[in-house]
Amino acid sequence: MSSNIEKNILKVAMPKGRIYKQASKLFREAGLPIPSDFDDTRKLIIELPDAKMEFIMAKPVDVPTYVEYGVADIGIVGKDVLMEEKKDVYELLDLGIAKCRMSVIALPDWKPTIQPRVATKYPNVASAYFRELGQQVEVIKLNGSIELAPLIGLADRIVDMVETGQTLRENGLVEMESIFGITSRLIANRVSYRMKNDSIQSLCDKLQDVISEKA
Ligand code: PRP
Repeated sequence: MSSNIEKNILKVAMPKGRIYKQASKLFREAGLPIPSDFDDTRKLIIELPDAKMEFIMAKPVDVPTYVEYGVADIGIVGKDVLMEEKKDVYELLDLGIAKCRMSVIALPDWKPTIQPRVATKYPNVASAYFRELGQQVEVIKLNGSIELAPLIGLADRIVDMVETGQTLRENGLVEMESIFGITSRLIANRVSYRMKNDSIQSLCDKLQDVISEKA
């Protein structure tokens, strides 16, 4: 592995799943040649020599870790994950994609309980929120299907992402309060941002042009 080649290639931690589609569309609109056959690939490292990039296909929650450790120079990640993970990375750009919100959710007949329990994929976010309100709650960490928790009596409320609201509607739950809005962000490793500033800045400029056109 030659360090000269390494220096010229921008390593991008890309979140697999729902954000990838919108992120790759944005990159293409910014003029970066990403072949469409990469959209459904199971490959984890995708080389894009024409764009002088390499995509590292990551589980979304792991993107800030790859960027903090510098195995990826930059990454795309939801604000929800950034707020939860609190990694030491630069947040460069609000990409305006994958819009949704973080909310407190419950069954419609929810009433305050003596031992309130909140289930969530975001224990840091949920704890900070209820701490600020001065409410003592027990936070239970789950890894998915969070909406099950109030339905089966594990917790009386949940803190989770709401996008279309379909999951709530289909499970008879209601949004009690929205905590913050979420979009995907472009983040950078602190050292890479200095060492590869030209290519990172040039990518930011191209993306910013597309974002501004849409606004
Ligand atoms: C997310 C989130 C909600 C749902 C919200 O779950 O945790 O369950 O999407 O989207 P909606 O408002 O459009 O229905 P995800 O699909 O990522 O799966 P998970 O339950 O495994 O976390």
